[in-house]
Amino acid sequence: MKKLLVALMLVAFAATIAIAADTVILKAKNGDVTFNHKVHGEKNACTVCHADAKGGKLELDKDKAHALCKDCHAKGAGPTKCGDCHKK
Ligand code: HEC
Ligand code: HEC
Ligand code: HEC
Repeated sequence: MKKLLVALMLVAFAATIAIAADTVILKAKNGDVTFNHKVHGEKNACTVCHADAKGGKLELDKDKAHALCKDCHAKGAGPTKCGDCHKK
């Protein structure tokens, strides 16, 4: 019984982490940017954006974010118009 409970708790714990990382809201005065981390992480190597494969907090500001996000979108198929990322 105890083992089952622990197993269930582990599943619940893992599920919360997965959900927490699925989409990340990046705050911006001119409209928050909803970033689909799950899709981006599946299609790209973690190290495209993160310093190493573990990932973690990124120090983003306007210039760094625009360089990272818009450069790739311009080459690929992602949004490059202000309003496609910044939503009020
Ligand atoms: C690919 C998505 C994307 C596009 C396109 C984009 N931005 Fe951003 N922008 C971001 C992200 C991400 C941030 C950083 C949020 C953070 O600091 O975490 C940001 C930050 C900003 C900030 C700073 C906001 C603040 O609160 O400091 C301004 C201003 C801004 N963008 C204006 C624009 C304008 C104007 C355009 C169009 C010319 C544009 N952005 C296009 C994603 C985008
Ligand atoms: C296209 C860029 C991009 C890719 C690819 C990417 N990440 Fe992230 N990741 C981000 C952004 C943006 C954040 C939010 C940053 C912040 O708030 O500081 C983030 C946050 C994280 C966090 C912090 C926890 C969280 O959810 O806020 C972890 C852990 C993480 N990423 C791991 C990974 C791993 C592992 C991979 C590869 C499977 C990966 N990332 C791929 C951009 C990316
Ligand atoms: C290495 C390439 C790459 C990087 C870096 C990247 N993206 Fe994208 N992104 C894409 C591609 C390709 C698509 C369109 C296809 C798809 O949905 O996968 C996309 C789609 C999107 C979309 C629209 C679809 C959706 O997921 O809702 C948003 C919003 C977005 N990206 C935000 C961002 C932000 C914000 C950043 C920076 C933190 C970023 N992207 C960095 C490649 C990238």
